[in-house]
Formats: sequence, C-alpha cells, structure tokens
Amino acid sequence: MRVLVSGGAGYIGSHTVLSLVAAGHDVVVVDDYSNSKPTVVGRLEALSGVHVPVHAIDLTDAGKTERLFAQERIDAVVHFAGYKAVGESVAKPLDYYRNNLDSTLSLLEAMRRHDVHRLVFSSSATVYGEHAPVPYTEDYEHLSSSSPYGQTKVMIERIMTDVAAADPRLRVALLRYFNPVGAHPSGQIGEDPQGIPNNLMPFIAQVAVGRRDKLTVFGDDYPTADGTCERDYLHVEDLAAGHVAALEHLDDMVAPVRAFNLGTGTGTSVLAMIQAFERAVGRELPYEVGPRRAGDLPAFWADPTRAQTELGWQAVKTIDDMCADTWRWQQANPQGFPDA
Ligand code: UFG
Repeated sequence: MRVLVSGGAGYIGSHTVLSLVAAGHDVVVVDDYSNSKPTVVGRLEALSGVHVPVHAIDLTDAGKTERLFAQERIDAVVHFAGYKAVGESVAKPLDYYRNNLDSTLSLLEAMRRHDVHRLVFSSSATVYGEHAPVPYTEDYEHLSSSSPYGQTKVMIERIMTDVAAADPRLRVALLRYFNPVGAHPSGQIGEDPQGIPNNLMPFIAQVAVGRRDKLTVFGDDYPTADGTCERDYLHVEDLAAGHVAALEHLDDMVAPVRAFNLGTGTGTSVLAMIQAFERAVGRELPYEVGPRRAGDLPAFWADPTRAQTELGWQAVKTIDDMCADTWRWQQANPQGFPDA
C-alpha cells in the first residue's frame, strides 16, 4: 500500500515509517515539524534505504491538505499528527482542540473526496478516563479524559466512528497506546522532546546523559507495591509493528471501526523503571521523591487480548530492551536531533 503517515517525523511516526517500509509499503510523510526536526527524515532514509517524500504542511490548512491528496496517490492513512502534552493542554485548551480537531477534519474530508477508505488512528489509553476498571478493555463505554489533550482523542475517536457510520467503505482502527518508550536499536532515531521532558523515560535518559541534575519521582504514597505509580510501558518498535498489523488487517476487521489496546498487559512502577535504566547505564542515577503530580492515576495497564487474537500482534520486547535502546539513542544524540 501507499501509506500517508501524518506526523511521520515524530517519535512514534518515525519508527512506524521504518516498520511500514520494512513490511513492503510505500510511505509519504506529512509533518509541519511543530514538534519534530527535518533532520529525522535523512536518518529514516539512511536506515530504510528508500527515499521518504515529505509534505511539510500543516493539516489544519484544508486547502493544502486537499492539494496533497490531489498530488499523491494514497491507499491508506496512519494519523499521528497532533499536540500531545497533557499539562500544556490544560493551560492552552483552545490550541489543542483547534489543532487536533481541525487537522483530523481536513484529513477526513480529503480522504472522502479522494476515495481513501483505510485509516489507522493514534489514540491513547487516556480515553479510558479515571473510572475504568484495570486492566482496560476496549469495550469499556464511558470514554472520557481529564485533560483537553485526552479529550481530543475521545472526540476524534467519536468523529471517526460517526464518519464511518455514514460511509460504509471506511475502515478505521483506533489504536489505544499505553506508555510507548524505547528507541530504534540503531540509536539513530528516538524520542526528542523539546524543552523539559514531561514523560518519565526521556527525563531519566536526560539525567543519565547529564542534561538534567536529577529525576523527581512524583509521589511514593500510592496504593501500589512500592508506592509509586505503575504503567504499561511498551517498546516503540512493538508499537510500530502494531500499526502495520492494524493497517494490514483493516479490510478483515469484524466491524468497520475497531479499537485495539496496544500494551503489554503488565504494569511497572516508577522505581522499577529507574532500576532498569540503572542496569542499562551501569551506574546509579540521582533521584528524589517529590509530591504527586496532579491528574496521575495510581496504576493502569492494558488487556491486550483483542490485538493478540484479531491482529496477531503481541509486544515482545522487555523493559530492559526499552532502557538499553533509549540509552543507546540518548548517548549517541545527547542533545537530540540536530537542527540541520
Ligand atoms: N513520572 C515521574 N517523574 C517524571 C515524569 C513522570 O515520577 O519526571 C511518573 C509519573 O508520575 C507517572 C509515570 O512516571 O507515574 C509515567 O509518567 P509519564 O508522564 O511518562 O506517562 P503518563 O502515564 O502520565 O502519560 C501517559 C501518556 C499520555 C497520556 C497519559 C494519560 O504519555 O499521552 O498517559 O494517562 F495522556
């Protein structure tokens, strides 16, 4: 298939580009580089051995999106592009709703006009909200999220479901990610947050490489085994493979729109992640325990059964793989991707 990857220069998008090419697909990237660097593309070309065409446009511009679809033959879309910082979304809700919803609407309109009927969407476990029982299963109905960012995922899932109900040709896989971490084993691409990292793994990696003094553990008085929060971390390469599996399964789905959890099914605590990273680095890392972070849930993980049985997909990489690969990437690129 010729696959349009929106946000293909971003963290998960870039790894998925490599997996798509490895699986024999042609890839076209659209990315406005609002949270990524153009230098990612050269690395993708070197790693994949193919030319990766890029349209550097903002998908909220419906005219430009339309022209992209007029220029390129597209068989399927994998839609990653969007703002994704939970805290920032609380401070700037309008930016998040405007950007994430408008870009999706332009994309869906262009897909309809150009008869593109296959769509894989980058959703998140955050759609399960605060009250869903753990482990999370896809048939849980009361989707909601405490942050505007998460709420855009809930709304986009709904929009896609409504659009598919009106167009029987459309097939949509909604992929609900748990906590993607790790990097390509080459160390050439990885997560490159701008500014102070919000997420645990890039923060630990920047402490390890000396960019930050120490990690703050956000609370150790949760009702968990060691008192720190537990999350379902999965390797970004496993996650990328999940996108290929979903894409290739779209035409055979049991329903036109189907949600799939992409996680391992196991929770790991913050302290256990620090210890795993220390094993990868070979020394102790400085951390202190601070107060809880607003909005954090004590523990959640996936029930990944549906992805296993219907997509034939399963996460195979371990926590130690995730830490070793993150560390390789961070050591080789202490300041992230170069500007040019
Ligand atoms: N943590 C720390 N210190 C840090 C950063 C994180 O202790 O400096 C802890 C958090 O409190 C949490 C765990 O590490 O317990 C994981 O935090 P992340 O920020 O890495 O991940 P979250 O589970 O909070 O965030 C994920 C996704 C979001 C999604 C959110 C919803 O990254 O996209 O889940 O729950 F919206």
